[in-house]
Amino acid sequence: MDKIIIMGGEKLCGDVLVSGAKNAALPIMVASLLTPGWNTFHNIPDLVDIRTVKKLLGNLGVRVEGNSTVRINADTIIQSEASYDLVKTMRASILVLGPLVARTGVARVSLPGGCAIGARPVNLHIRALQDMGAEVELRDGYVEARAKKLKGTTIYFDISTVTGTENIMMAACLAEGTTVLKNAAREPEIVNLAEVLNGMGARISGAGTDVIRIDGVDRMNPVEATVMADRIEAGTFMLAAGITGGDVRILGCNPSHLDALIAKLRDAGMEITPVDGGVRASGRKKIKSIDIKTLPYPGFPTDLQAQIMAMMTIGSGLAVITETVFENRFMHVSELMRMGADIVIQGNNAMVRGVAKLRGAPVMATDLRASASLILAGLAAEGRTVLSRVYHIDRGYQKIENKLSALGANIKRISE
Ligand code: UD1
Repeated sequence: MDKIIIMGGEKLCGDVLVSGAKNAALPIMVASLLTPGWNTFHNIPDLVDIRTVKKLLGNLGVRVEGNSTVRINADTIIQSEASYDLVKTMRASILVLGPLVARTGVARVSLPGGCAIGARPVNLHIRALQDMGAEVELRDGYVEARAKKLKGTTIYFDISTVTGTENIMMAACLAEGTTVLKNAAREPEIVNLAEVLNGMGARISGAGTDVIRIDGVDRMNPVEATVMADRIEAGTFMLAAGITGGDVRILGCNPSHLDALIAKLRDAGMEITPVDGGVRASGRKKIKSIDIKTLPYPGFPTDLQAQIMAMMTIGSGLAVITETVFENRFMHVSELMRMGADIVIQGNNAMVRGVAKLRGAPVMATDLRASASLILAGLAAEGRTVLSRVYHIDRGYQKIENKLSALGANIKRISE
């Protein structure tokens, strides 16, 4: 298994290009299930989760070709099942549920079960499909949904759910009549998906607000589209500049997707300036400790909570970090403490008291964003950090060690 080895202490400087967004690419690739014909998607990142969705689509009989430009053809869907083996490695596999029922009338998808960052149920996806007239049964750990034709209706989501909104938005494209999603999630990835679906002939309005209206159509057509840049990867590089006191231009990203992070980084003493095609992040001053609360978009993203906590471990005082989206997303805390961080958890608050220095240590990645947090900590720490279980980071960051090393980090991957 691979490990990442970091010798900390280098200030990161230079330019880095952000890859396509995993969380946009996944639903966009799955949207191909809604139409016959060849779809073409550009800017697909090279990630383990992308390979998983390709496999998932392949198992359904869908043809998938290419890498950074991916072509997908769902003329024939030979079966409607997403197996436990795939869903357990990637929860986002649940995204096939809505499109499969809408296109073929039936879907059988393994229930994701728990994961490192909490229980993460899919009850809201299921409830919404039932509201649209689907018959849903839970059998042998699988959700089985059937509907000759889904019917448009008004759906209220109790909690803002990203993949739930995407799943039902896709299903509603081929439903009879109009579907209105209330308290819909507003993430930019949902807007990107809606643009792609509209390019396929769907009639969606309101994506990016908390009320999305979808007028059902009988048939959709293939599309050519480009996946948005990964705002979480971009944010991670801004934090890499901050934690090392460096100066990095993050290119190919849309800074307006990162308003919540940018406001916080400025509060923490960083200079963030827009540049052509991206943003420049400089962290030359002492990091000021600031409080952070994660929220659905446009609030502070839970997917950057672990990374900003790494930066707060060497802040000037006390930072209170409150996680409100997932109930168990502090797995990185005990690993950061092994590197000398001073953190106390009380419920969903982490009290992070800044220390003068982190010290390199062997640490273990527990989930995708936790791994990024430990890499950031390693960049700032004195001495050597060895990160194991790096398969987590490969799910969501394309060649992160190469990108960081091009910015001057002393980082390498070894295979054992
Ligand atoms: C997506 C992102 C993930 C990000 C998360 C929150 C993808 C592929 N993944 O995950 O990176 O961390 O949004 O921004 O886009 N919930 C329910 N019932 C449901 C659905 C969700 O109770 O049926 C709860 C979850 O347990 C969680 C909250 O709602 O507490 C938000 O989860 P959700 O937005 O659904 O996260 P994902 O779509 O799984």
